Amino acid sequence: MKGIILAGGTGSRLWPITLGNSKQLIPIYDKPMVYYPLSTLMTAGIRDVLVITAPEHADLFRLLLGDGSTWGMRIEFAVQPSPDGLAQAFIIGEQFIAGDSVALALGDNIFHGAGFETALPVIDDFTGGHIFAYPVLDPERYGVIEFDKDGTALSIEEKPATPKSRYAIPGVYFYDSTVVDVAKNITPSARGELEITSVSEHFMNQGTLKVSVLDAGTMWFDTGTVDSMMDAAEYVRAIEHRTGAKIACPEEIAWRQGWINDAQLAALAKPLEKSGYGSYLLRLLER
Ligand code: TTP
Repeated sequence: MKGIILAGGTGSRLWPITLGNSKQLIPIYDKPMVYYPLSTLMTAGIRDVLVITAPEHADLFRLLLGDGSTWGMRIEFAVQPSPDGLAQAFIIGEQFIAGDSVALALGDNIFHGAGFETALPVIDDFTGGHIFAYPVLDPERYGVIEFDKDGTALSIEEKPATPKSRYAIPGVYFYDSTVVDVAKNITPSARGELEITSVSEHFMNQGTLKVSVLDAGTMWFDTGTVDSMMDAAEYVRAIEHRTGAKIACPEEIAWRQGWINDAQLAALAKPLEKSGYGSYLLRLLER
């Protein structure tokens, strides 16, 4: 399975912070935002990742992430000339996807928790689409999903005035290889974007859209506003201070997945020692 991180967009809800920088490069506590969706894909066992950025930020992402080889991965880059919608990722990524199934992770979505980690790798062999549902107090702010007791999707509505369920659709989506053609055939919405909702609706109408509920033990943040970014940063800080374990540390995940060995982890840690990030990695080797 391939993975795509959508790290373009305008970030207008964060202006002026994002006037001179990509939203997904801004820190969430002790690491750049894009480490979180990258970790989501890595936790799902995905080693082949395409990062889609705005043209003006492409070089910065290359500088940060490189080609992924030091993490035992393959990271490629593509640009989205203008933010024309989430579903455009599959059209831009057609050659990269190359007939495989694909997971799309939004660059500003953060997941954490055992429930999420155990739900992820199960999604390996499927036909159609597989998305998540997360209970929220204010579903009218999100894409809302209604589903039956077997987890088959029944309806999807974007920011409905009267939601049919209390479940929002968080920003990680799994589809089979037909998603490329599906994305090519959807029509832009009233706001002129190729909507991910239209892609999921296609699979729902075919009866092949599965929904997994993320339990209350999973934390999900969409860090698109200053306050949600601060909430996420405070959460990460609190958990990391209390447990001594880092959330969304790509080097650690690569090592735990067996993609890099002890010596490779130590080599990655050394240059990062001053910030404490590298010392954390070295402590993993001592335990
Ligand atoms: P949004 O938060 O919906 O959009 P945005 O980042 O442009 O922010 P704002 O609404 O404040 O202007 O996007 C969700 C994620 O998807 C985010 O990480 C940016 C990314 N994205 C793209 O890469 N390309 C796109 O065309 C869109 C719409 C979003």
